Amino acid sequence: MPQTIIAGIGHYVPAQTITNTDLLKFMDTSDEWIQERTGIKERHYAHRTAETTTTMGVEAAKNAITHAGIKKEDIDFIIFATLSPDYYFPGCGVLLQRALELDEIGALDIRNQCSGFVYALSVADQFIKTGMYKNILLVASEKHSFGLDFSTRGRNISVIFGDAAAAVILQPTEKENQGILSTHLHSDGKSAEILAMYNPGTHANHWQEKAYAHFDDAAIGEMFMSHAMIDEAQNFPNMDGPAVFKKAVVKFPEVIMEALQKNNFTPADLNLLIPHQANLRIAQFVQQKLKLRDDQVFNNIEKYGNTTAASIPLALSEAYQAGRIKEGDLVCMAAFGSGFTWASALMRW
Ligand code: ACO
Repeated sequence: MPQTIIAGIGHYVPAQTITNTDLLKFMDTSDEWIQERTGIKERHYAHRTAETTTTMGVEAAKNAITHAGIKKEDIDFIIFATLSPDYYFPGCGVLLQRALELDEIGALDIRNQCSGFVYALSVADQFIKTGMYKNILLVASEKHSFGLDFSTRGRNISVIFGDAAAAVILQPTEKENQGILSTHLHSDGKSAEILAMYNPGTHANHWQEKAYAHFDDAAIGEMFMSHAMIDEAQNFPNMDGPAVFKKAVVKFPEVIMEALQKNNFTPADLNLLIPHQANLRIAQFVQQKLKLRDDQVFNNIEKYGNTTAASIPLALSEAYQAGRIKEGDLVCMAAFGSGFTWASALMRW
């Protein structure tokens, strides 16, 4: 059975840099608070009108295609991971297919937030292993800046997110002991509302009951997005940060150890861990717990903040370009986020 390799990788970061101090224009926060609690110094925001999640994904895809040395006609399947799609539907996969003028190939959208890239990698791995596809384009992109609460009310979330895109080309190899060794996917929906954007949505819960209470028959048209929902910031991401933090520091080490043990390795064998860039304090906790040296972990959250689905491939792409990943290296990627979902992938580069 073939193994899946990353044959090409690339990323795209929008030009506009937003420092912590820039955010003071909108909300009551401080550079000191943000750096101390998250490690973030700055993030990038996409152009308000000219750039979308898909257009950024297209740029990252072009870079990955060039790096792989293939023609775009060689691509036989698209996977697009994002939580900030251009449209409620259809997904970004078809928009990317159109923008790159690809053949009428399949396009799959993945909605697993911070774990999106690792989930997508796992799906691609199964298609490659069965021989169904030979050149999968996997794109992860987020335009968070479009949908954040920039008032003081939303500061616990809005300061941590940034925009970016990254992409990989996945191919089969017959070489043994190369490429993706295993992937591990988990979920626990009990905590779904702890980190979520509730509306627009079709759920019947107390927010919609409130919407009914505010409006008469006209409420039918307001069910999808009412003034009450907007007043209560239900159209923005909501998060119980400390609850997410507590769960993340347990699940990250667990899912990394699961991948290592499955393949008879220990943390000492790792050349590089790429943790999802949610909070530098989480990554440092995981590093300590697994007794990893600084050179075994790659972080870039200080420059980009949390770019959700794009976070792992962006870090992977930067680490590769910086010469931190060489052929034969044992690389682990691990994510935890909204859902909750968490996941890991272990690969021999
Ligand atoms: N600036 C200044 N003060 C702030 C800010 C801010 N940006 N945000 C919150 N505060 C204040 C709070 O109001 C609170 O004040 P109080 O003590 O007077 O009530 C105080 O700071 C502490 O707030 P906490 O929320 O307890 O701060 P914490 O140290 O937990 O840091 C953070 C918040 C950074 C969000 C942290 O909880 C975290 O990183 N959680 C995990 C995030 C994560 O991993 N998310 C998953 C990925 S995202 C996804 O899946 C889409």
